Amino acid sequence: MITATETQTPLLDHVDMRMVAANGDEILDRNAIVKLDPDHPGFRDKEYRARRNAIAQIAMTYKPGSPIPAAPYTAEEHGVWQTIWKALGPAHREHACAEYFECLDKLAFDTDRIPQLDEVSRKVEAISGFRLEPVAGLVEPRVFLESLARGVFLSTQYIRHHSTPLYTPEPDVAHEIIGHAVTLASKQFAELNRLFGEAVRRTSSTTELDRLARVYWFTIEFGVLRENGQIKAYGTGLLSSAGELAEMHKAELRPLDLEVAVDLAYDPTHFQSFLFCAESFDAMYETLREFLIRW
Ligand SMILES: [Fe+2]
Repeated sequence: MITATETQTPLLDHVDMRMVAANGDEILDRNAIVKLDPDHPGFRDKEYRARRNAIAQIAMTYKPGSPIPAAPYTAEEHGVWQTIWKALGPAHREHACAEYFECLDKLAFDTDRIPQLDEVSRKVEAISGFRLEPVAGLVEPRVFLESLARGVFLSTQYIRHHSTPLYTPEPDVAHEIIGHAVTLASKQFAELNRLFGEAVRRTSSTTELDRLARVYWFTIEFGVLRENGQIKAYGTGLLSSAGELAEMHKAELRPLDLEVAVDLAYDPTHFQSFLFCAESFDAMYETLREFLIRW
């Protein structure tokens, strides 16, 4: 059952970075240690916080290109992964696009245990050339987006607190794997992610970077498309949240017009009130590809 707290589902994500720093100072480093807010579900759980720090250390000492050390997940945390999949299985069957299922098949996850990033990264790399690198928490949008140009997805490694298995206030390994890593096993999605990175590299102004980040949000994170007359999700923020998928059909659908999307504000703290809908997977791919090449 999904409780009231769990249905809030405000996912602050890569492109709407909320920096959290060890000492409260602004940190621009990609390996900043995470400090939990007092309202974070794990704030009072010493063990969880210690594990979060241990996992953050993995990212801080990680050397790009080397194997990603395994995170020390507990039985309780593997239980969170199981709960997430129990909720997502039926939600995916109803709302996920066909391309997503193809990718899911290719990666063949164990729904009982949180897979380690290294194992997921190897599988994805063999398919699309994309690999994962661990980060301690949210990173600057520019750092996150530019790394996509190198075929690198900067991924968190911790999992949300066990008290709220269907809710996370920040991107965790479930969002990264179930949303991003799965879609990166699609050659087309991998190409679009790379093109985002390349477009960001060509963008020096902060205002223009914000505009590009909005397009990332409205497509890669929260995009939907038509498939056999039905609305299906391809956005990772939708596909990794049973709550978002259940609420998706309440959102106002707008035609996928990226010239409009670049200037629209979005609210990361609530279910999305409107979504951009492509006429088909191919239409989404072509529209976004052309937009990013032209940028
Ligand atoms: Fe995301």
